[in-house]
Amino acid sequence: MAILVTGGAGYIGSHTCIELLKAGEDIVVMDNFYNSKPKAVELIKEISGKDFRFYEADMCSEADMEKIFSENDIEAVIHFAGYKAVAESVREPLKYYKNNLGGTFTVLEAMKKHGCKKIIFSSSATVYGMPEKVPVDETFPLSAINPYGETKLTIEDMLRAVCKADKDFSAALLRYFNPIGANECGKIGEDPNGIPNNLMPIIINVCTGKQEKLTVFGKDYPTPDGTCVRDYIHVVDLALGHLAALKYVRTETGAEPFNLGTGKGYSVLDIINTFERVNDIKIPYVIGERRPGDAAECYSVPDKAYKKLGWKAERGLEQMCRDAWNFVKNSGK
Ligand code: UFG
Repeated sequence: MAILVTGGAGYIGSHTCIELLKAGEDIVVMDNFYNSKPKAVELIKEISGKDFRFYEADMCSEADMEKIFSENDIEAVIHFAGYKAVAESVREPLKYYKNNLGGTFTVLEAMKKHGCKKIIFSSSATVYGMPEKVPVDETFPLSAINPYGETKLTIEDMLRAVCKADKDFSAALLRYFNPIGANECGKIGEDPNGIPNNLMPIIINVCTGKQEKLTVFGKDYPTPDGTCVRDYIHVVDLALGHLAALKYVRTETGAEPFNLGTGKGYSVLDIINTFERVNDIKIPYVIGERRPGDAAECYSVPDKAYKKLGWKAERGLEQMCRDAWNFVKNSGK
């Protein structure tokens, strides 16, 4: 039996595929390369030294999903595929509802038809909306402040309903905080198509001269240095969280949310200073206006994942910054 990885060529998906293969899992990977590149599939094979079946396929296509499920014996799905740009989701909400909700619906229908009852879902800390206090644990109230967040929250709701209706169904809802960094080998890392929106890819673009300078969004927040605080997590730690969740869905039933974070908050200036120091490079930046929708602070209580999944993040901020830059230097991005 195999694990189906949707969106397996993307940033978190590709790192997870490598760890699954290293752990001896049999995987089937699908991606439509909307925000990833075919090269990632080759790199996963090269780095892991293992082969697997790949489908260039769209999760919104019933025919594509039927083909994958009928040609393979799928035990569980790790569901990464989805659009993820917050600002774009505000401009084009229907695009997000159609792809993220419609695609997940199609995946779930195919699972139902083929008797597959285990799923690990890429949720996000965005389901906590603007948290009233920090650190955030899984019992905090859920809300969405943009269409992207609505799709994450609605998919969580869909999975809670599916698990309620079918007592044999198991769904791990993994609420990611801010993944950065890259595989230690330096061959694979974050490589988005188009203009990036997140802090680390923008820092990288400034360091490689693709962008003139970084704008720090606001320095008047009620935080120690005035800039926003987030829970940055090494992408390899995050990938390993999926292996722990796989073990969990194999033995447990029901829909269960887990924060995947380090539990430590770092400010935008902490990230800039650490990146500059460990990589011996200058990041030109200016202080700009606040970005609408940014919470002042968002970091996790990661204890539930440790207690129930036996997982915790091991890699620190210096390694995250070093590995992110190492990938760029190595791959000549
Ligand atoms: N930032 C800047 N300048 C930039 C880009 C970002 O100062 O050019 C700051 C942001 O204000 C924020 C921090 O860097 O304080 C991190 O921003 P990101 O855009 O990298 O990440 P977010 O915390 O905004 O978003 C992440 C995920 C989303 C998720 C959200 C809420 O990318 O998918 O967390 O949990 F929805």
